[in-house]
Amino acid sequence: MKHLLSIHDLAREEIDEILTLAKDLKERQRRREPHPLLAGKTLAMIFEKPSTRTRVPFETGMVQLGGYPLVLTPGDTQLGRGETIHDTAQVLSRYVDGIMARTFAHDTVLDLARFGTVPVINGLTDLLHPCQVLADLFTIQERFPRLDEVTVAYVGDGNNVTNSLLYGVAKVGATIRVATPEGHAPDAEVTVTAKADAQASGATIELLRDPGIAVEGAHVVYTDTWTSMGQEDEAEARRRLFQPYQVNAELVAKARPEAIVMHCLPAHRGDELTDDVMDGPQSVVFDQAENRLHVQKAVMALLMQG
Ligand code: CP
Ligand code: NVA
Repeated sequence: MKHLLSIHDLAREEIDEILTLAKDLKERQRRREPHPLLAGKTLAMIFEKPSTRTRVPFETGMVQLGGYPLVLTPGDTQLGRGETIHDTAQVLSRYVDGIMARTFAHDTVLDLARFGTVPVINGLTDLLHPCQVLADLFTIQERFPRLDEVTVAYVGDGNNVTNSLLYGVAKVGATIRVATPEGHAPDAEVTVTAKADAQASGATIELLRDPGIAVEGAHVVYTDTWTSMGQEDEAEARRRLFQPYQVNAELVAKARPEAIVMHCLPAHRGDELTDDVMDGPQSVVFDQAENRLHVQKAVMALLMQG
């Protein structure tokens, strides 16, 4: 594993390695046991979009690993004045041991990896959100140890999180049923690639319209915002369109009684997820948020050690 750009690039064994190390790091962190796996290493973080759950775990996680995190927003660097990704990647590679980037265009993250010489971690693009879904697989595994026996129902907008969920589920041999309105299915190319991965692993991917059918008997009910970063102009129209896709108590009741409810956050309470469900006993949304820390630390350690 040289970079983390997409879960599609990972072998099943690499996913297991990340999840196993994350579990170990979670236990060590809970015991306040030092684990300076990246002593003296530096991570540069490029943010074109805001973040809480990506930035804070990478920043604090790097410190917990004995390294040094460096946050770069566009106004801080010459990227904001038009210096190319090519040149930025080359220059940063002379200073730091790894680069994490959250960008609009997916190509920006790919180009950082292509032109730089240090590991690059995708911290969310318009297309994919691999760190989120690795943490989600970890969170699901905490409740349902056999990932290949799990059925995930994703309800709402087919976005970057959905695309990465397709890749994640396809790699671990699970089942995913995605219910979206017409025109909002996950990315077509990602779907084709994930279906090919699914054939190899025995996973099942179904794209549907009806949220009730998607959720029927599922172990996991997953939703995300109806308006992703960069789509703010469409927020009102989306709110009307996605209303039938709200995850509420009535919908969750169709899943298994032991089902968990997931959301990558930030949530728009009362839109895609009702308060009673988000704060209810089946919700694991804050475990998901916590697990970003342990999983991102594992990813950094595996990419940047040595
Ligand atoms: N889920 C997630 O990536 O959250 P942030 O936008 O706060 O990083
Ligand atoms: N789909 C959301 C995820 C936020 C973490 C977005 O891209 O805004």
